[in-house]
Order: sequence, then structure tokens, then C-alpha cells
Amino acid sequence: MKLVLENIEKAFEKKQVLKGATFEFEKGKIYGLLGRNGAGKTTLFNCISGELKSDKGNIKLQEENDTIEILDYSKIGFVFADPVLPEFLTGYEFLKFFIDINKDKIKELKSIEEYFNIIKIDEEDRFRLIKGYSHGMKNKLQMLCFLITRPPVILLDEPLSSFDVIVALEIKNLLKEIKKDHIIIFSTHILQLATDLCDEIVVLNNGTLEEVPEEVLHSEEFEKNIIEILKEEQHA
Ligand SMILES: Nc1ncnc2c1ncn2[C@@H]1O[C@H](COP(=O)(O)OP(=O)(O)OP(=O)(O)O)[C@@H](O)[C@H]1O
Ligand SMILES: [Mg+2]
Repeated sequence: MKLVLENIEKAFEKKQVLKGATFEFEKGKIYGLLGRNGAGKTTLFNCISGELKSDKGNIKLQEENDTIEILDYSKIGFVFADPVLPEFLTGYEFLKFFIDINKDKIKELKSIEEYFNIIKIDEEDRFRLIKGYSHGMKNKLQMLCFLITRPPVILLDEPLSSFDVIVALEIKNLLKEIKKDHIIIFSTHILQLATDLCDEIVVLNNGTLEEVPEEVLHSEEFEKNIIEILKEEQHA
């Protein structure tokens, strides 16, 4: 399975953010998406997930048998940088509701308690309103949504920055465990995270996507190289 982006363009009024982004993301790999603030990473995720409509270009999912389909948005799981969750439900109520509306899609349903255990939300917190959750707890809950439904494409917009080191390590391991069945794209500003978690690094620069060559990825000059690439951007 491949996620194919062809010439994606997106502008906000006069500001052209994506200028023909083209890339193929393959199943079984974790891709790190790097780019400066305002480069358009969140915009790209929004276009892939259907939150925003791109002005031009195609987004397709190519299956193993080579059938190509225009992306069906139910195949995408998106963890936002700022978690979007119903504040006036408890974590437990939210999960119960989420499982209920997605039950057709869930292959191996576990109990709500088991799910909470996976992401280590304490028992006393499970029955509190989400409104009172910390940023990291909200992010964990969002992350849990894709662990439950397992969509083929998983987009993570700077998800690990709000996690403490222990949780970040657990989530990293979880992502590595599930990656063989998914296409995972992960935006981050933390270079070290990109190099130790991701199989490939893609840079969003000047509205287009380019892959960082393998030899750069594992070289000592990785950081210097990335900074050089990102500095080239001409800010409009
Ligand atoms: N809804 C919108 N209306 C107008 N402009 C927008 C909108 N969303 C994004 N932009 C602009 O598009 C550009 C790209 O924004 P985007 O949020 O995609 O960047 P980013 O790469 O995710 O940045 P960061 O690393 O800071 O999260 C910015 O100049 C931003 O101001
Ligand atoms: Mg962003």
C-alpha cells in the first residue's frame, strides 16, 4: 500500500503554501516530516485528511494489487497538535462513545479498561472530565483513537512533544510495533526524534516535498545538512 501525493497545491488567499507537493509514502515505514514554522506541515496533513480541500493535485491510496483509489477519509487517522476532544465528557465516556460509533471498523476489540492501560491513564482520571486533562493526557487519548481503529494511514502532527520522557518512549515503541501494517507520517521539530524513530525523513521546503538521502540521514553532519536545507527557504 502506498499513499501517493501528486502536485498538491494549497493557497490561503494570496499566500501559496503548498506549491506542487509530490511524494509516495509506503506501508511499513515511519516518515518524519520536517519543515520550518509556517512551512505548511499542518496544512499538508489537513489536505491529506480531508479537513481542507487542496486547490490542485491528487491524493490516492494505491493498494497492493495496484488498484488505485481516491483516498477515502475514513482510512486516515489524524492526531492533531492541539487535541480536539469533547471537553465535557469523561475519558471513559468518550472512549465508550468512540468505540460505539466505530464498531464496524474495529478488528480486535478490547475492553475500555485495557485501552486505558495501554496508554497508562490512571484509574482515578478515567472518570474525570476531559476538560481537566493535561495536554499530554489529551494527546494520549487522541493517540488511543487510532490504536483502536487502526486506520491504514496515520498522521501525527507533533504528537510527542507534550509527552514526558517515559510516555514518549512507550509511544515510540508502540509506533514501531504497529508500523508494519501502516503508513505513518510524523511531523516534528525534534531532529533527534526524527532520526531515531523514523525510517525516512521528508522535508517540506518552499511548498514542495523532498526526501533526505539515506547517506545524509545516518551521517554525523545530519543536523548541519538539515539546517542548510531549511535555511534555503525564501520566505514570501
Ligand atoms: N486557515 C488558514 N487561513 C489562512 N492562513 C493559514 C491557515 N492555515 C494556515 N495558514 C498559513 O499557512 C502557512 C502554513 O501553516 P501551517 O500551520 O501549515 O505550518 P506548519 O508547517 O504546520 O508550522 P508549525 O511548525 O509552526 O506548526 C502559514 O503561513 C499559516 O499562517
Ligand atoms: Mg503545524
